[in-house]
Amino acid sequence: MKTSAAVARLWSVAILTATPVVAAVDFNKEIVPILQQRCVECHGPDKQKGKLRLDTRADFFKGGKDGEIVKAGAAADSEVYKRVILPKDNDDRMPPKGDSLTAPQIELIKNWVNEGAKWPEGVVVPAPAAAPAAPATAAAAPVDDGWKPSGKVKPPVPAPELPKDFKAPAGEAAAIEALAKTGIDVRPVALNVPWHEVNLRLLGTNVTDATIAPLKDIPSLIEVRLGTTKISDKAMGVLKNLPHLEVLGLELTGVTDAGVGELKSLQNLTYLNLYGTKVTDAALDALAGMKHLHNLYLWQTKVTTNGVDRLQAALPGLNINTGWELIPVTTNAPAAKSEKKDEAKK
Ligand code: HEC
Repeated sequence: MKTSAAVARLWSVAILTATPVVAAVDFNKEIVPILQQRCVECHGPDKQKGKLRLDTRADFFKGGKDGEIVKAGAAADSEVYKRVILPKDNDDRMPPKGDSLTAPQIELIKNWVNEGAKWPEGVVVPAPAAAPAAPATAAAAPVDDGWKPSGKVKPPVPAPELPKDFKAPAGEAAAIEALAKTGIDVRPVALNVPWHEVNLRLLGTNVTDATIAPLKDIPSLIEVRLGTTKISDKAMGVLKNLPHLEVLGLELTGVTDAGVGELKSLQNLTYLNLYGTKVTDAALDALAGMKHLHNLYLWQTKVTTNGVDRLQAALPGLNINTGWELIPVTTNAPAAKSEKKDEAKK
């Protein structure tokens, strides 16, 4: 139950460098009661709805019938967070009965996951009836403290609207075909929609600015993944003219502030990955007008907390992942390993 001195040190490093400058979430005091009062009734020793148990570390990190429910450092990609923020009338909302978690509870879960989802070894969430402080009846007769948006909770980012009457220009099909001949697969994102995606990550270093030049003739692209390729800022000259682009992966490429500055026209962008590039705060300032941007990845870049805070103020609904919160990953061993240790404690 004790947090080791080493972990405590890492925590303080994380607190000093993490963006939201609030005290790190205290798992025992702040997360355990939520799980205990609102989750373990259906995800504990008695019932395992969705094949999911949330009372031990091993079970929590193992996940449920659909696999892992938490991605340490990325609440927005974690089922355990995504489900509790759903509106009350959504069938997938957790808990499915009673009121939604309160805004502060949701915020705690989000911050805990973003801080690396640290679950100290040996901690087991007690059965709901044994709740010391909280009324044992919380789940059965929930107080009306339902989810209300507060200043602290990020407003949802509106989804961009794609034109319903979009018609691919003449030449697009030919461009797609020409790329196919060079081994580049531009695929429809779904059946019966005009929209396309292309993923060049796997071709990696074979892909240069010249390789992607033909994308300029494919305005139906909404998703372009160029991570790990050899593209440079020059490629942004092509990408900036794809007006419907929603997802753009530029991680581990040569893109710089100048390139990102060119992307201002991409007003539909919801996901941008700049991990492992040389971008600085100047790039973040260029993104401040992208009102649909929902996920931004900045791990191993040159951005500072100042730049990140500025962008967060401009786009409160944006999830910014700097990876800084991931520093204490040591406490977050994969489920397989922790399972053994948990077993030993039982
Ligand atoms: C009243 C019972 C009940 C409570 C309380 C409850 N759940 Fe669930 N949960 C379910 C059921 C039923 C499913 C499976 C159906 C589904 O996938 O939507 C499920 C599924 C899930 C899943 C998906 C698992 C998977 O792999 O598909 C997650 C994550 C989850 N719950 C999290 C939570 C959290 C977090 C809480 C507490 C805040 C909670 N649940 C409280 C009944 C409950």
